Amino acid sequence: MPHTDLSVSKHIPAHVAIIMDGNGRWAKEHGKPRTEGHKEGVEALRVIVEEAARMGVKYLTLYTFSTENWKRPHEEVSALMELLLNSIEEDLLQKNNLKLQIIGEKAKLPTAVQQALQHLMDTTNANTGMCIVLALSYSSRWELTEAVRQIAQQVQEGILSVDDISSATVAAHLSTNFMPDPDLLIRTGAEKRLSNYLLWQCAYTELYFCDTYWPDFRKDEFHRAIEDYQRRERRFGKTSEQVND
Ligand code: FPP
Repeated sequence: MPHTDLSVSKHIPAHVAIIMDGNGRWAKEHGKPRTEGHKEGVEALRVIVEEAARMGVKYLTLYTFSTENWKRPHEEVSALMELLLNSIEEDLLQKNNLKLQIIGEKAKLPTAVQQALQHLMDTTNANTGMCIVLALSYSSRWELTEAVRQIAQQVQEGILSVDDISSATVAAHLSTNFMPDPDLLIRTGAEKRLSNYLLWQCAYTELYFCDTYWPDFRKDEFHRAIEDYQRRERRFGKTSEQVND
């Protein structure tokens, strides 16, 4: 198939969220320990980050470690923390003018990981290109519970009245309050569920599922997802006639 430059041909989703699933199964199929699947997953991530930035995506939100992932075997959790510590290259971020942000319960991460990530967030803070958002120790139910707590606290302190609580109030108390909702969510690895990821934010997000395991997800697969998105009609609850007027 001839290469088409999707970034110039049609609109690019401003915010792409990805559930990078299938690392463990990829490793099993290759006769390797699960941790090798995560390492290979980092390679896929490098390719997709650079391609998304080149195409003009503004926010790339990656489900990197969920609240539930803490229940995995100790060696696997350690290997993932090690990858977080050692495989995010400052050079790659700077070269591509990328900004790094974290959502999730940061305080639960090992101190060394928190410090390394904080350093990267500080040094990339002024960058104006794509923002990579790592969801770490993140789950939607945790995030929504936190938001409810904060709002309830404000009501209790008399700062906020119950009648003034709107969906904008809730959104403002979520850890994603600095970016728009995802336009497109991609889940690799054949499962078709959201697994506690961005449940509030994905109310009108276009969902794309593919069988490819994350370590094998490369540019051509990413282009397929974007092309699929570009063929969708987003109606946000309206009729086709209304959105095309
Ligand atoms: C899901 O696959 C993947 C994860 C829980 C971890 C994702 C992490 C990476 C791709 C590495 C990212 C690293 C950095 C530095 C950002 P799975 O293990 O659930 O796969 P399975 O469903 O096949 O078992």
